[in-house]
Amino acid sequence: MKANFRSDNETPVAPEIWAALEQANQGTAFAYAEDPWSAQLDQAFSELFETGTRVLPLATGTVANSIALACVTPPWGSVFCHRGAHIVSDESGAPEFFGNGLRLVPVDGPTGKLEPTALGRAIGQSQGHGIHSYAPATLSLTQSTESGTVYTLEELDALYAVALDRGMATHLDGARFANALVSLGASPADASWRRGAQMLSFGASKNGCMAAEALLFFGHPERLETAERHRKRSGHLLSKMRYVSAQLLAYIEDGLWLRLAAHANRQAAAFAEAVETHPEARLESPVQANEVFVRWTAPALEALAEKGIGFHFWPGQENLARFVFGHSTTDDDTRALIDAIRH
Ligand SMILES: Cc1ncc(COP(=O)(O)O)c(C=O)c1O
Repeated sequence: MKANFRSDNETPVAPEIWAALEQANQGTAFAYAEDPWSAQLDQAFSELFETGTRVLPLATGTVANSIALACVTPPWGSVFCHRGAHIVSDESGAPEFFGNGLRLVPVDGPTGKLEPTALGRAIGQSQGHGIHSYAPATLSLTQSTESGTVYTLEELDALYAVALDRGMATHLDGARFANALVSLGASPADASWRRGAQMLSFGASKNGCMAAEALLFFGHPERLETAERHRKRSGHLLSKMRYVSAQLLAYIEDGLWLRLAAHANRQAAAFAEAVETHPEARLESPVQANEVFVRWTAPALEALAEKGIGFHFWPGQENLARFVFGHSTTDDDTRALIDAIRH
């Protein structure tokens, strides 16, 4: 493949993270997250987020999302989210599995974003039959969204207010939280709990780590104990958790995570600019993070693939392609892509 834009999950481990793994790879250490690296997580993330933060290190984003939702949603409760949310379309029912019957309620919204009025209406319509209906329990947003867009702080305020005003719990799927932060130019606190997010699936694997994610809890400390039970029962309490925790510490040290994300976003922006001036290809959504969705003809996209450019045809839509830029995308990769769409 000449250049690979299929997914940021296909990027290598960043050298700084690899070095942290090597450092952690000395001698023995207590197992099951009782090691010295895991012991530092709460404090390190509390400083980063400027508030008391409890951290559950995990290996996948799916399990972070699923545990978060199961902690706050009863089996008869519903979770509201965007129709394109990863929890709806890409987790094979894991949230429902962990939640022992909880229901995801997908709501439509343009460019991958929920809108407060539509959300409020969907919540209202879902509970018309009292005890016979599922109970609205949780709102889950994704930042950056599955369409490569980024909610503004005001949009987050308005959406979380809809949920909090109704006594619902709130979750943010931050598989690409770093890319969103860079795009917003906001602090981690301003883009999360200050907006009303109570739990954050803090992604790291897509942006330089190897199988390292975290579920963060802002407030409600009793939820952590429930989360720890879910983690153990589902087989996600890794005995060698030190390697996950050491990566998370290195990832947030000295802004590494933001530098890696800024690089990815810049590459995406360069490609987006080229698409904007292209005679036929069109951007499907505004490009605000590291993913670019392009609408073009199916034969043109097929020809692009034949030139050795790696990308995903969006499922069910042969004229829609997704290009993802990562911390390891080089200027040459992006230039090769731009040349390939022009010639
Ligand atoms: C928006 C979003 N949430 C969560 C995930 C987590 O997925 P995984 O379980 O593959 O780490 C992904 C990965 O593609 C994602 O794009």
